[in-house]
Amino acid sequence: MLSKKVLLIAAVVLVALLLGYQYTVQQNLAGPIRLMPDDAAVVAQGQEVYVAECATCHGAQLQGQLNWQQRLPNGRLPAPPHDETGHTWHHDDASLFNVTKYGPQFVAGPDYQSDMPAYEGKLTDAEIIAVLSYIKSEWPAEARATHDEINRRAVPQ
Ligand code: HEC
Repeated sequence: MLSKKVLLIAAVVLVALLLGYQYTVQQNLAGPIRLMPDDAAVVAQGQEVYVAECATCHGAQLQGQLNWQQRLPNGRLPAPPHDETGHTWHHDDASLFNVTKYGPQFVAGPDYQSDMPAYEGKLTDAEIIAVLSYIKSEWPAEARATHDEINRRAVPQ
């Protein structure tokens, strides 16, 4: 019957369209992670996220916790500064994003004990990019330039 055939073709086309759409969305999400320290709106949103989610440990001035390089009695590390005295700016955009989203276990392995939370499910990808963009916007020009260079080497253009 013709109408059944038409329906079948329509269904096949619909499924193909949906799959194609999903593929495009996944492609977009899988794109390279880029911080936006020069985008005032993103930085302002990031500062709000920082104050709400990060400042208790990493410090209101991004200064980190006292003696952050010495392990605590429980073997864990204190929160490092996010200003230029820390090593946040030594890591490329994607590494910072992954540590924030999935926790330090992303680089140190699943058994690594840390007070740094994983923000997957608590912050959206856009919020994570915003908060890291805010952090980068606070670095002096020299650290920002070095970080741009680290990104150029880390991410194939
Ligand atoms: C409960 C305390 C706590 C909170 C809240 C917290 N962190 Fe952390 N963070 C840590 C600790 C502790 C470390 C050190 C990780 C380790 O054990 O190696 C760390 C490490 C990091 C690092 C790696 C820095 C580096 O130089 O390697 C990044 C990036 C980071 N935090 C981002 C964030 C962001 C962004 C937020 C807020 C959205 C946040 N953290 C909230 C405790 C915290």
